[in-house]
Amino acid sequence: YSRDRIRNFCIIAHIDHGKSTLADRLLEYTGTLTEREMDEQVLDQMDLERERGITIKLQAVRLSYKAKDGQQYLLNLIDTPGHVDFSYEVSRSLAACEGALLVVDAAQGIEAQTLANVYLALEHDLEIIPVINKVDLPSAEPERVKKEIEEVIGLDTGDAVYASAKTGLGVEEILEQIVEKIPPPKGETDAPLSALIFDSHYDPYKGVIAYVRVVNGIIKKGMNIRLMSTCKEMEVNEVGMFQPAMTDTGVLNAGEVGYFAASIKNVKDIQVGDTVTGTERPAAQPLPGYRKAVSMVFCGLYPVETVNYEDLRDALEKLKLNDAALVYEPETSAALGFGFRCGFLGLLHMEIVQERLEREYNLLLITTAPNVVYQVTTTSGDVFRVENPHNLPPQDLLVKIEEPFIKATIMVPKDFVGGVMELCQEKRGEFKNMEYLSPERVMLIYEMPLSEIIFDYYDQLKSRTKGYASLDYDLAGYKETDLVKLDILIGGEVMDALSMIVHKDKAYYRGRALVERLRKLIPRQMFEIPVQASIGNKVIARENIKAMRKDVLAKCYGGDITRKRKLLEKQKEGKKRMKQVGNVEIPQEAFMAVLSIN
Ligand code: GTP
Repeated sequence: YSRDRIRNFCIIAHIDHGKSTLADRLLEYTGTLTEREMDEQVLDQMDLERERGITIKLQAVRLSYKAKDGQQYLLNLIDTPGHVDFSYEVSRSLAACEGALLVVDAAQGIEAQTLANVYLALEHDLEIIPVINKVDLPSAEPERVKKEIEEVIGLDTGDAVYASAKTGLGVEEILEQIVEKIPPPKGETDAPLSALIFDSHYDPYKGVIAYVRVVNGIIKKGMNIRLMSTCKEMEVNEVGMFQPAMTDTGVLNAGEVGYFAASIKNVKDIQVGDTVTGTERPAAQPLPGYRKAVSMVFCGLYPVETVNYEDLRDALEKLKLNDAALVYEPETSAALGFGFRCGFLGLLHMEIVQERLEREYNLLLITTAPNVVYQVTTTSGDVFRVENPHNLPPQDLLVKIEEPFIKATIMVPKDFVGGVMELCQEKRGEFKNMEYLSPERVMLIYEMPLSEIIFDYYDQLKSRTKGYASLDYDLAGYKETDLVKLDILIGGEVMDALSMIVHKDKAYYRGRALVERLRKLIPRQMFEIPVQASIGNKVIARENIKAMRKDVLAKCYGGDITRKRKLLEKQKEGKKRMKQVGNVEIPQEAFMAVLSIN
């Protein structure tokens, strides 16, 4: 393919607006896959993604399309995730594209993340093709949605495609517009190699597979390359494209999207966002980077069995390769032993990492409640970050504590505005702006502490708006607020893994509620255990876990053998997620209890 017949594009869409279905139709229409192969949506490859029905990792697929002008074109579709946690991955795929399909559900309209991603795409100078999807639905209002796109984003929707990814309507028109409107990649094949690594994964046989967009020059098998950020050098031993399975092509030219392998064993040696160049004729400068991933939420991950610590470290290392946004470092807890403090983009990201560690690496983990990163100034003038609440210096050494704030954009039908405002108020939000997108839909802007969002904000927002609200947020900097450290004592000992930093106004309530939850969650032992919440040295709440009665035990173990076996099995199950702390067994739920109180 000559470069003027290559198009690199991605799809921007809100969750459930039909991105994966449309991608499937494009693959099918271009004959990239037969109908039988289409049984499962191709782009959502990870099991977890399929189960949750959302796109997490981005993927790339190459389509070959014969356009109406009689020419054969090469179209590279780079997938983008739809969830707010992963918006930084969107910016990655945008950096590898010249154009984007903006897919909007004709029965819904523009949502908050879609808007944020379109702005990102515009920043990257991408050509945007509006696609109004699901026009087959009886409730579809394509005209209204078109108007909304024009008014909210300011895009010309004169050529917007009316499509149905379900019936295939509009698919040809979309392909034609991709060819006509999206410019071919620029870049010089004769220039020194510079290629952007936009993703990677670990292959047990080939080592690290780097996904690249070649901007200038060519990359081919046998060539010596250098990673510009680390100056590491290596020899390329495979180069290819995604069709959609990895297919060896021996070479990638300027403008093309594909992968290379270079026997890279150490997962740390390659970094998403890095520029690859040739050793013989290196490029003068690395390619401009894209938005970097910022860890918003931290939590501790500990193996239930101490012997699995090394396994956990290996697993994190491997996951990190597929997930540049994951950060971690070793941490020791008096209660939980050796583990890691891990940073995530958000709660969904955190849950996914946990689940993958357990499913793909067979690890049994204890997770501590998530928290944000605080910025602390001490009386000695030091300023530092606190990623683990337990490490907050004592109150009398503190000059101030600052916490991260976000600017939240919430889009919602007008009938729910009251409910949303109430919720934002409860979450210490500060009203900034309100705008009518149409007579029916409203955009609200609030500034809120990030820590309030990571508790149950999103769930609450959804339930108070019958699922109609969408949310996007950006970090808006740090602000000083009135925060205190809340400690939990079990059997008189401070449980470092349960410490948290809370707003003073909510500390008393949270402490009480948490202690109450813990009393219910921690199983009775042979002796009575006090559970206390304290601020500084002052105990603000106390509950007792009563001792187990001996006769209950005796009854359980007597008699019927099958019942006994069942009981033992049940115990084993229950044991899985227990952590022995001193002489008390604490279940996983206890560490997350703070998430379920409000
Ligand atoms: P993420 O992968 O989470 O970003 O979601 P998505 O945007 O890929 O949505 P997906 O393609 O999974 O579609 C969501 C739902 O809408 C599915 O149940 C589809 O069958 C349905 N759907 C997609 N396109 C159409 C359409 O044109 N018409 C109708 N009626 N349903 C559609």
